[in-house]
Amino acid sequence: MTLRTLTLPLKVLASVFLLTIGVAYLFALAYLYLIDVEPHTKHGMGLVAAVIMKYYGQRDTTRLEAVLQGPMGQYVTDSQRTQLIQWIRQGAGEPDFAKVQPILTEACAGCHSASSGMGLPSLTSYAEVARHTVVDLGQSMKSLVRVSHIHLFGMSFIFMFTSLIFVFSEIPTSIQTFLVAIPFLAIWLDIGSWWFTKHDPMFASIVIAGGALMGLSMAMQIGISLYEMWFAREKA
Ligand code: HEC
Repeated sequence: MTLRTLTLPLKVLASVFLLTIGVAYLFALAYLYLIDVEPHTKHGMGLVAAVIMKYYGQRDTTRLEAVLQGPMGQYVTDSQRTQLIQWIRQGAGEPDFAKVQPILTEACAGCHSASSGMGLPSLTSYAEVARHTVVDLGQSMKSLVRVSHIHLFGMSFIFMFTSLIFVFSEIPTSIQTFLVAIPFLAIWLDIGSWWFTKHDPMFASIVIAGGALMGLSMAMQIGISLYEMWFAREKA
């Protein structure tokens, strides 16, 4: 039995399944782009930097220091900024908060307080400020465990089905073997490197390579299968 000679109901079933999976994959890519990539590229960050930010975090600075060096820096004098950054780098402890509180009240609370009515995070008490002085360690273990198991279960089912259809194609067995193994290798590469990137940013490009490989092999399985079912002619 080959894809070309399947009964019509089986051809239709296989085709609508493959098309739906293909569209789902495009939506997954769009989701990834909107949630993880676009917010960063807007600030001039590249794709690799965005992946590092997601899994490894931004460990050399805190959110508060980053905004003081950036957009919020205009609201403080140089010496006020120096004092605030010194406090952050010394651990942003509660005992010394009294020293920097007057600066925050003077320079920031005009906008960053409940009474400003601007809906911005309030920066008046220690607890409120401390939320912005933790170091960003990237995605938590808990959420990595969660997305890993969902993806491993989900992706292996998807590739089991697309591959089961694909192996009835008439292309050489060696290429078929290659194209059913590659997607699973790509899943391991992609998800494995989330974990490695959490510990070392140098693995970020493997996350991207694994994802690209997965998309490419899925596109080939779907493309070849659909072509053979509907367009291929009998070999002479
Ligand atoms: C004129 C009003 C204004 C003043 C004064 C101001 N900010 Fe902001 N701040 C904003 C606005 C608007 C945003 C949100 C827009 C953005 O993210 O660029 C913001 C965002 C922030 C954020 C990011 C909040 C988040 O959700 O991550 C931090 C932290 C912050 N400001 C700290 C400060 C500090 C510290 C000062 C004082 C040195 C300050 N701001 C002074 C208007 C102000």
